[in-house]
Amino acid sequence: MPISKARYLMLLVCVQLVVMAMLYREGYRKRVAYFIGIFWKDNLVTSDLAEQPHATGNRKPSWDIYANLSLIVKPFVRKEDLPFCPDKSPYVGGPFRVLFPSKLTMADVEKKNPFVTMGGHYKPPDCESKHRTAIIIPHRNREVHLKYLLYYLHPFLQRQQLHYAIYIIHQAGNYTFNRAKLLNVGFKEAMRDDDWSCLFFHDVDLIPEDDRNLYVCDEHPKHASIAMDKFGYKLPYNSYFGGVSALTPEQYMKINGFPNNYWGWGGEDDDIAIRVALTGMIITRPSVQVGRYRMIKHEHDKGNEENPKRFNLLAKTRRTWRQDGMNTMEYTVLSREVLPLYTNITVDVGTDKGLRKDTRGSG
Ligand SMILES: *[C@@H]1O[C@H](CO)[C@@H](O)[C@H](O)[C@H]1NC(C)=O
Ligand SMILES: *[C@@H]1O[C@H](CO)[C@@H](O)[C@H](O)[C@H]1NC(C)=O
Ligand SMILES: *[C@@H]1O[C@H](CO)[C@@H](O)[C@H](O)[C@H]1NC(C)=O
Repeated sequence: MPISKARYLMLLVCVQLVVMAMLYREGYRKRVAYFIGIFWKDNLVTSDLAEQPHATGNRKPSWDIYANLSLIVKPFVRKEDLPFCPDKSPYVGGPFRVLFPSKLTMADVEKKNPFVTMGGHYKPPDCESKHRTAIIIPHRNREVHLKYLLYYLHPFLQRQQLHYAIYIIHQAGNYTFNRAKLLNVGFKEAMRDDDWSCLFFHDVDLIPEDDRNLYVCDEHPKHASIAMDKFGYKLPYNSYFGGVSALTPEQYMKINGFPNNYWGWGGEDDDIAIRVALTGMIITRPSVQVGRYRMIKHEHDKGNEENPKRFNLLAKTRRTWRQDGMNTMEYTVLSREVLPLYTNITVDVGTDKGLRKDTRGSG
């Protein structure tokens, strides 16, 4: 009896292999990878973060972004006596595992980040950081993405031993989204708070996958999201500046900030890249191995439709950048909520007709 059972099993496995080979030949690589993923699931995932495996390409990062973070403790010395953090953080570990556990709550994220103080601020407890980085995230109706981003970004930044804070810039009302103007607001409001040496302008749906991607500024404006899964982990085109970028306050002022008049999806990142070139700067980037990001999938947002005017606007940037940017920005802060994991700045940015009273109200 046991022999025939074994034979039966063998047959089953063979059929399975043949089916898989056929699928593979027809080019369904992803599907095959998925089946293999199911077989190996037990080895791949651990603890409460279990979720369906993702095809991770040729790399299989295995460690958790929170690994060893609990080893960071406050030493018994006065704040003034803390040594400077080393040039290279000992907690940086390379590519880590990115999963999106469906049961995760904001309260879980808070619990995992005990050293983060109100407003989403953090300083390394055991050394004095040489870097002060503000993260600016334009936002509207993306609470689920925000939860995952915070879950990864907080430990990611702590591993790099940065002094940092996270600002959410929430566009009030239902009028068409204006990413670049929200980033301008974020710059101004963050600089009111602290003397940041670097500002990271960060889309809410992009999760970094490698903590060697340092969130510090360079001598020139930096584009960090060089390799996104959405574009096959390659740059879509040479001057691409979308997703995640970083400027010092000086670089930012040199280009007169970002444009205020791009309503809807697209174009504003190219406008910023043109500003960088026009002021004689270049774009720096991490390597494609390090600047990797996973995009959280979503539908095209309501209220953020493609901007049909973007090509006309881009054609004029050379003439308009000095008259449109930081020096002409008008907005009204409606509320500033200091929450455990971030500061939520809700702002009325008006409409393409300007800042009008009737767009205020509602969150
Ligand atoms: C955690 O610490 C252990 C022991 O020091 C080390 O071997 C391991 O590489 C560390 N893991 C990460 C991800 O930092
Ligand atoms: C925005 O849209 C929501 C849902 O469509 C609606 O309930 C709300 O009243 C709108 N707010 C404004 C200011 O128009
Ligand atoms: C930010 O504050 C506004 C106004 O209170 C609120 O409507 C919105 O949901 C908040 N967003 C986040 C992400 O906390």
